[in-house]
Parts: sequence; C-alpha cells; structure tokens
Amino acid sequence: MSVQYKAIGWNRQKRIYDAWLAAGVALYVAIFAGAGWLSHPDATVETLLIRALGTGAFVLLHVVLSVGPLCRLDLRFLPLLYNRRHMGVTVFLLALAHGIFSVVQFHAGGDRNPFVSLLTANPRLLSLGQFPFELLGLSALGILFLMAATSHDFWLANLTAPIWKSLHMLVYVAYALLVLHVTLGSLQDDRGLVRSALLAAGMAWVFGLHLVAGLRERGADRDAAAPEAGGFVDVCAVADIPECRARVVCLSGERVAVFRYGGKVSALSNACQHQNGPLGEGRVIDGCVTCPWHGYQYLPDSGASPPPFTERVPTFRVRVAGGRVLVDPRPNPPGTRVEPAVVGAPAGGGAHA
Ligand code: HEM
Ligand code: FES
Repeated sequence: MSVQYKAIGWNRQKRIYDAWLAAGVALYVAIFAGAGWLSHPDATVETLLIRALGTGAFVLLHVVLSVGPLCRLDLRFLPLLYNRRHMGVTVFLLALAHGIFSVVQFHAGGDRNPFVSLLTANPRLLSLGQFPFELLGLSALGILFLMAATSHDFWLANLTAPIWKSLHMLVYVAYALLVLHVTLGSLQDDRGLVRSALLAAGMAWVFGLHLVAGLRERGADRDAAAPEAGGFVDVCAVADIPECRARVVCLSGERVAVFRYGGKVSALSNACQHQNGPLGEGRVIDGCVTCPWHGYQYLPDSGASPPPFTERVPTFRVRVAGGRVLVDPRPNPPGTRVEPAVVGAPAGGGAHA
C-alpha cells in the first residue's frame, strides 16, 4: 500500500530491529568462532568461520520459520514478524559467506575453476556416507537467493500475491535440503553425535510449532454453525466481539473477520492483500481495519484501502438480530460496499450489498 516504491522505507522501528539483528548475528559468530578456537586451537580461521556462519544461518532460519506459528499462538510475537523479511535476507547473506569460505577452503587450491570443482569433485551420488552434501547446500542457497532477491514489495506487487506466496513457500524445500546437507555432512566427520542431537531438536521444534498452531486454527475453523434461513449463518453474539476488534470465523472454507466498531458490525475476508496477514487479529484504528503485520488499512464497510491506495478485500453481508451476529457466507467482490449492521437495530436491518 505505497504510493511509489522506495528501495526500503526506513523508519525508527526498522532501524532498531535491524540493529538488534546485526548485533545478535555478530555476537553469535564471535562466540561460536571463539569457542571453536579455544577447543581446537589448530583450526584455521576459514574453518572457524565456515562453521560459525553456516550454523548461524541455519539457526536464524529456524527463527524465521518459527515466527509465523508463534504469532498465531501469541500476539506478543508480532513485532518479530514485522520485519521478518530482513531476517530472511540475513540468512541468505550468512549462508552465502559460509558457501564462499567453503569453496575457497576446499575447492580453490587446485588447477580447476573452484565452482566447477564444487560441482564435479565428488560424483558419488549413490553413496550415503560419501554423498556430495555440498551440492545440497548449493541448491538451498539458490532458493534462499531467489527469496531474498524477490523479498521487496515491488516483486510482491508484480508477481501477484499467490505466485509470490508459492515462491516463498520454497523455504520449506530449502529447509529440507539443509537438513540433508548437515546430516550427510555429519557422516563425513567426527562431530556427528552432538550435531545430530541439535539437528533433531531443531526439527522437532519447527515441526511441533507448526503442528500446534495448525491444530489450533483448525479448532477455530470448526466453530461456524450451519446456515439459517436466507443463507445467513449465526457466527457469535455481538458481546463476543470487543470494541474495535474482530472475531474470526470460518464460513464455506474461508476465514472471515467480523469487526465491531462504534455501534456497527462489518465483515471482511481475513486475508490481507499484502502478504495474507490475519486482518481479524488487527484493530480498527482511525476508522480503518489495520493489518497487524505491516499496517495496511481497509475501510470496514467496503474492504477498500482509503485513497490513494488501491488494495481491496472481499466483504460479506451482515445482520444483527437479538444480540447475535449473522453473516452471509457468500463473499462480495473485493471492495464492494456493504451497509454495516447497526448494533441494537431491529432484526433484518443493515443487510443489503
Ligand atoms: C554453496 C553452498 C554451500 C557449500 C559449498 C557448503 C559447504 C559446507 C561444508 C564444506 C561444510 C562442512 C564444514 C565443516 O564441517 O567444517 C558445511 C557444513 C554446514 N553447512 Fe554448508 N555449504 C553450503 C550452503 C549452506 C547453506 C545455504 C546453509 C544454511 C543456510 C549451510 C549450513 C551448514 C551448516 C549448519 C553446516 C554444519 C556446520 C557445523 O556443524 O559446524 N550450508 N557446509
Ligand atoms: S500482511 Fe503486510 S500489511 Fe497485512
């Protein structure tokens, strides 16, 4: 929702976020490399950096993958989500540095081009113990590059949200490739046991978090009742919706955010046009439904962003009767104005599109 694209719209929050991120990464690399040097004083600087940067990238990738489900489980994690893309780009930069140091250390000493050597030095594709695990890291790096290069809103707008989203779901393919990269790499040196235990804990954390968040959302999705006469569905009591907040319900397989504000009730699709953020977890601020992820805004009655912005989400017809909120599960085209239902109005009021 910007009038024109800027390389990055810096603000104070972003600077603080990035400063913490940079400090955290620098501290991790320094502590990891320092501890490695103390325990293996004969290790080269390149080896220490390869390990510190590789594990740093992989740990940060775990954080990136955890932020989404954590926010589903507890809204206090939302500040982490605000600039998650900066974390993703940092993962790529750390991984790139790790890959470059590895190629310099292991492939630059011979008479072949180091990159050709990386691709061809180990052809034992059928051996588990000797598998060319670096190629798995290289493939993951390719995916991380694609995601970092297209992370800006410019690409989101030009590729369209569904294609951008599918592209960024490749992060799970990258994660699987990296699990194999580290596992098969471990088979080729003597630090396998500790590494395997940490890897298993990391996988259990990521998988467990996604499972718990998914089960919780499925539980919420099951709540919607069967349609009543006229096709409207009784979704909740008016009193169940806090002022300027929403209740999210699942109607015909789609999540709908039902907002209550200033004595009125309106219903919109729950999916923000920016990156599918959960609108129903946002608030009505200055008369606009405000996405909790990056602050895109929509007018509650029309689902359209206020001018000059052009984003639009589908709306739903709403009624309030006997203190209950009833919603027509058939979505209106994005941006269609629907008269809000008035709290306390006689039954049947405020339902025309
Ligand atoms: C061109 C791409 C890559 C190459 C050539 C490469 C190469 C290597 C090598 C040679 C090792 C063994 C290092 C050692 O044990 O001393 C290694 C380990 C590792 N790599 Fe990569 N890698 C690449 C991409 C990646 C990426 C994209 C990530 C993560 C985002 C990653 C994460 C790791 C991790 C966590 C380890 C284990 C480090 C340890 O246990 O100390 N690698 N990689
Ligand atoms: S997802 Fe970014 S503002 Fe809604």
